[in-house]
Amino acid sequence: MSMKNIIPLISCVLITFFCSCTSDNEEDLFGTTTCDTSNTSYAQDLVPIIERSCFNCHDSDNNNGNVTLEGYTNVKRFVDNNRLIGAIKHLPGFAPMPQGKAMLVECEIEKFEEWIQNGAPNN
Ligand code: HEC
Repeated sequence: MSMKNIIPLISCVLITFFCSCTSDNEEDLFGTTTCDTSNTSYAQDLVPIIERSCFNCHDSDNNNGNVTLEGYTNVKRFVDNNRLIGAIKHLPGFAPMPQGKAMLVECEIEKFEEWIQNGAPNN
């Protein structure tokens, strides 16, 4: 390929790169902000989030910071001492979680809040 062709090619690649994925959060991608927090279930809704985002550091084998989030009793402990909500909402005075990764998406945080407001049942 001649030099003459390489410049447009590189420009094209760069433009494509910078124009793609300007946003990568679910709300922007799907264009809706609907978040159904009604009947939030610990087992159905929250455990999968915890497994996905927290277990590499907080399952029973990897209890970083002495925090285990495996099993309802363990999770409830960190609900009751306010550290779970403080950590996922990045409130002052708490270690922001998940550590070293993007904050949970808004809808996930809202589900935790709703569930906690309802007394954090083992549902
Ligand atoms: C990459 C590892 C890692 C991930 C992923 C992670 N944590 Fe942590 N977490 C830590 C470490 C390390 C500490 C102790 C930090 C400290 O004390 O400064 C901690 C501390 C905490 C604390 C105590 C915070 C405080 O200020 O008392 C809570 C609650 C917590 N994590 C919840 C979570 C939740 C919920 C998730 C998933 C959304 C999560 N963590 C994901 C590593 C992690």
